[in-house]
Amino acid sequence: MVIIGSPRENGISAEVLKTLDKEGIWVYRINIKPCIGCNYCKENKKCFIEDDMIEIYKKIERAKVLAIITPIYFMGMPSPLKALIDRLQVYYNNPLIGEKKGFVLMIGERKNTFFEEYYKKIWEYTLKNIGVNNISFFLLGNIKEKKDLECYYNIIDDVKKKIEGLL
Ligand SMILES: Cc1cc2nc3c(=O)[nH]c(=O)nc-3n(C[C@H](O)[C@H](O)[C@H](O)COP(=O)(O)O)c2cc1C
Repeated sequence: MVIIGSPRENGISAEVLKTLDKEGIWVYRINIKPCIGCNYCKENKKCFIEDDMIEIYKKIERAKVLAIITPIYFMGMPSPLKALIDRLQVYYNNPLIGEKKGFVLMIGERKNTFFEEYYKKIWEYTLKNIGVNNISFFLLGNIKEKKDLECYYNIIDDVKKKIEGLL
């Protein structure tokens, strides 16, 4: 599955998705309420909130590969994507065992070199609970317009090849 963190239908993430030639789940188009830390999932192995996350949980459990394409918003991720990630608390309390592959592409208008390791750690920590042991993280920095993606075409092409047939 491919998750898109951007609200912009014609933005940079959309352009990367087009290149990968896959369907994406656009978090801004669905309804994912924030985690309230109630610990219901600790006892019940599921979340009590009934929203679009129910479908996302099913997709995550079935997925062999998870790709996330997202802009960087204030050294983090856009809030609907963060809401999705926080709702993975179900799996923090009840980890999925698996061999999923994870691909994360973060896009920023600044270079972000200083934060690269920090972002990578966040994704490793977050996705290991859903059974992603093997994570490929790419920071696509210094992007102000679509043509700035040119220098990352080899990375995007490589990701495309690796997820081909797996999604
Ligand atoms: C609210 C907001 C916060 C942002 N914060 C950062 C940031 O911390 N670092 C950065 O490099 N770019 C930041 N940006 C720029 C976006 O990451 C950049 O424009 C990105 O290309 C947008 O991706 P999209 O076209 O797929 O939506 C921010 C943009 C917005 C709207």
